[in-house]
Amino acid sequence: MENVTDFVFREIVSGLPKPDVFFTEFTNAEALTSEGYVATIGKLKYSENQRPIVAQIWGRSPEALYKAARLVQEMEFDGIDINMGCPDKTVIKMGAGSAHINNRTLTKEVIEAVKAGANNLPLSIKTRIGFHQDITEEWTTFLFEQKINALIIHGRIAQQMSKGQANWQQVGHAVKIKNKISPETILIGNGDIKSFTEAHEMHKNHGVDGVMIGRGIFLNPWVFEKTLDIKLHQKEEYIELLLKHVRLYTEIWGDTKNFDVMKKFIKMYIKDFGGANQLRQNLMETKNSDQVEEILLRSSQTLTLS
Ligand SMILES: Cc1cc2nc3c(=O)[nH]c(=O)nc-3n(C[C@H](O)[C@H](O)[C@H](O)COP(=O)(O)O)c2cc1C
Repeated sequence: MENVTDFVFREIVSGLPKPDVFFTEFTNAEALTSEGYVATIGKLKYSENQRPIVAQIWGRSPEALYKAARLVQEMEFDGIDINMGCPDKTVIKMGAGSAHINNRTLTKEVIEAVKAGANNLPLSIKTRIGFHQDITEEWTTFLFEQKINALIIHGRIAQQMSKGQANWQQVGHAVKIKNKISPETILIGNGDIKSFTEAHEMHKNHGVDGVMIGRGIFLNPWVFEKTLDIKLHQKEEYIELLLKHVRLYTEIWGDTKNFDVMKKFIKMYIKDFGGANQLRQNLMETKNSDQVEEILLRSSQTLTLS
């Protein structure tokens, strides 16, 4: 997730029960292969703790996507993913993200270019069930015919953005199409999954090989724990996570990233415990990691801050 699952957050999650596969934020191929390189390459920073890790790229130009795929392969990622689901207006205007759903000729070229550039790296596509309307049948049939290694399908159309509920019936329909056309392709369902129990149900009810979890991590950083019993975590554990996160954020990004990006994580860690509201309000005023640390130190004498 853009501005969420950066190097630092993935590093934090890799210290918790971690997902079977990590994905980078989406990374623009045109920027990566032009003067935008310096500002963009940080999105592809990863550590060994984060393996297996897939680099997600997006763009319109087959040539840029070819070059970006070569770079991803040289950087020794475990896989490459093309974003064909982003509903952002700017991305669509550029003919990328979910705009690919409406342009099969270009999409075919893009897939071929990425395959050529990535050499033998596993290739996945992340998309939605349609753009203006649900076209699961024709769109996924086309994608399975391209012989990709995995398809990640978000059960909403692009125009829905994140609204309404994900349509898992249609995700299940994509599974049936895959079984007919390309049974060896891995099918990952996506949309609204918040726990291992729900992931399990989707596997059982719709036949997906796996699920991708996005926003579920905001509700529970331990969401990747493979247990059917939901465990409650203590205030101290949340505070420790925030502290670790903010320190690493400063160590890795320094002044190169706006500190306000940290605010969504503050909201994520500091909630649902006694005194959380006041503490969160104070933390939302901070401008750097020292200020966060100072407030946390004052708020909790039980913490060992080494
Ligand atoms: C803040 C935010 C950033 C996102 N960035 C990306 C992205 O970079 N690439 C991508 O494929 N999807 C991105 N998504 C979409 C999610 O990956 C996912 O498809 C969607 O949120 C539905 O799944 P969920 O209910 O598990 O979050 C983003 C979503 C959010 C909320």
